[in-house]
Amino acid sequence: MSQIKFYKHDDIPMEMHKVKIVQQLHLLPVDQRLEKIKKATFNTFKLHNGDIFMDMLTDSGVNAMSDEMLAGMMKPDDAYAGSESFYRMRAKLREIFGMKYCLPAHQGRACENILSERFVKPGNVVIMNYHFTTAKAHITRRGGRVEELVKDEGLEAVSDLPFKGDIDLEKLEACIEKEGVDNIAFMRLEAGTNLIGGQPVSLQNFKDACAIARKHGIVSVLDASLLQDNLFFNKTREEACKDMSVREITHEIADQFDIIYFSARKFGFARGGAIMIRDRKMFHSMEDLVPMFEGFLTYGGMSVREMEAMTVGFDESMEMDVISQGPQFIKYCVDQLDAYGVPMIKPGGGLGAHVDASRFVDHIPQEEYPAGALVAAFYICGGIRGMERGTLSEERNPDGSEHFASMELVRLALPRRVFTLSQVEYVIDRTKWLYDHRDMIGGLRFTHEPATLRFFTGKLEPTSDWPEKLAAAYKADFGEDQ
Ligand SMILES: Cc1ncc(COP(=O)(O)O)c(C=O)c1O
Repeated sequence: MSQIKFYKHDDIPMEMHKVKIVQQLHLLPVDQRLEKIKKATFNTFKLHNGDIFMDMLTDSGVNAMSDEMLAGMMKPDDAYAGSESFYRMRAKLREIFGMKYCLPAHQGRACENILSERFVKPGNVVIMNYHFTTAKAHITRRGGRVEELVKDEGLEAVSDLPFKGDIDLEKLEACIEKEGVDNIAFMRLEAGTNLIGGQPVSLQNFKDACAIARKHGIVSVLDASLLQDNLFFNKTREEACKDMSVREITHEIADQFDIIYFSARKFGFARGGAIMIRDRKMFHSMEDLVPMFEGFLTYGGMSVREMEAMTVGFDESMEMDVISQGPQFIKYCVDQLDAYGVPMIKPGGGLGAHVDASRFVDHIPQEEYPAGALVAAFYICGGIRGMERGTLSEERNPDGSEHFASMELVRLALPRRVFTLSQVEYVIDRTKWLYDHRDMIGGLRFTHEPATLRFFTGKLEPTSDWPEKLAAAYKADFGEDQ
């Protein structure tokens, strides 16, 4: 079933699970939140979770586990080498993806490290529909470069295109021609394209792009971290997938690729990662890197308990009732805010609702990090922690100049099976308030700027006393204790 129908209301998204274990939340008063964000140097990664009401930073490692996953964690096989938990996990991945070889890794970026070590040489290009921060950082660290060939509509905030993550096939052919096959390390397609708003890729596009790569002898790699959201959209938006089961769609996608890797902090609802490889020789060319960077070949830095949990989680990712909850909640949130006039990335994708900061705070120049400033404002006005996905998440150009992001987004992630609809309503309410007070939000500047992945550890300060003024306006409307 994809959605419960209502008799007297417009259909609203409905959870197909019930809550068994809860974590208490606390809403700090606005004055305390102001102090906390100052202490966190206006970087929401530095906030303590206990000081947050709605943690919408990410869907990574914070998805709710099912009773069956927790039960699985009670029967792990603890062994440095040869753990049965690993073999159970590998068997499940073989069944789902139809690929034989499996290298475990502690999370998605660890897989990216191994792939970059193996394939990327200085001067090489990696072709992508769109980059992800850690994937790009590993490639550039090896002296490589990224070419992003997503269709133009993928970078438009609002578009009718149902699969905004699709790679542009003409650009792909032209890029191969220009760069030359020998200089292309691999082609990486990302399901549920994260940085452009969790936007999906069609099965047809996977097929067409991989056929081109195959024709030229280019290795094709799928980043399946956000595959479960992508599968929901294949099933509901793509005519050819309507009568296929989620497993069948997964198989058909997997059949196109040489390599599939994923973060099990997302795919599998647990904490870990793995690389699946079709070819034996290719597998052997990478396997030594796992004991070097991750751990022995049968745990790869993961706990055996997590491996047991994700083995169950992979099966749950193949169920429509499970994978539809996130995208339906996101659609609800996006549609409500859009109706109010808040600029959102449309259509809603997976992983979270994405606010278009370049239109929300269009008075803040890109060099003052509009999305970063809006993220700080969300925390002050509601205790909501989102994530900046814009210029602040980029790295500077080699000459030190700012590399302006194609999109300035605030991601309000909806970790899977975690929040209720009334909590989503709260976020909608506070977003509307913030939108009505958007002129009060000002910019940010770095006081400490790391060279790599600066958004994780950088320190910032506001360009004026706008946070104090915003907090005062909020207090006047909601009272001191909110
Ligand atoms: C598409 C994608 N690839 C890779 C990663 C990296 O995974 P991890 O955070 O487990 O290192 C992420 C994490 O957010 C992601 O969204």
